[in-house]
Amino acid sequence: MKLLALSGSLRARSSNSAVLRSALDFFDGATTTADIGALPHFNPDLDGEDATPPAPVAVLRAAVGAADAVLVVSPEYAHGVPGVLKNALDWLVSSGECVHKPVAVITASPFPTGGDHANAQLRETLRMMTAEVITAACREIPAVGPLIDPATDRVKDEATLADLRTAMSHLTAAATTAATATTATPRPSRTA
Ligand SMILES: Cc1cc2nc3c(=O)[nH]c(=O)nc-3n(C[C@H](O)[C@H](O)[C@H](O)COP(=O)(O)O)c2cc1C
Repeated sequence: MKLLALSGSLRARSSNSAVLRSALDFFDGATTTADIGALPHFNPDLDGEDATPPAPVAVLRAAVGAADAVLVVSPEYAHGVPGVLKNALDWLVSSGECVHKPVAVITASPFPTGGDHANAQLRETLRMMTAEVITAACREIPAVGPLIDPATDRVKDEATLADLRTAMSHLTAAATTAATATTATPRPSRTA
């Protein structure tokens, strides 16, 4: 079973990427993280049926297509989704790799109530893309700063780790179901 992870933060010391790494530790299967920082700006002129997508886009589409589930972990900027992450999702709208794919959304914020706008917007966008948003695997993590161990760049807070383990068990279960269904009936997907 394979999980592809996307971080909405490009920062080297990103708290969301630290949460992502900790969550991946609890996924029961192979995990990879996509580099979305190298993607060009989405341009529908490059996205037609006869167009050859830019190489980083083809790599992303192949990685999502090969995954049984996707984990998105992201900060919130100005009550919205980081542009780099929305850009990555825009490249995946028409190509179809997210259709019926189990997806979990986690947002982490340094603020006591932050991240809820981006979390809701990401879920809405993914549902519009016909992804299967696994609500039981989604989380909002407020006041994330003290929960991270800067020495390991992972979550150190035991309660948060336990919650991430629970979230990832739900995503693992959904990925298992999806992988079984895919074996019986391949998902629709346009060639990258
Ligand atoms: C331009 C900008 C806008 C931000 N807007 C929000 C916001 O609306 N809500 C929020 O919770 N945090 C906001 N933040 C704080 C980020 O959540 C914080 O910088 C966080 O550490 C970024 O995530 P990262 O550590 O994974 O890079 C903003 C930060 C910046 C730089």
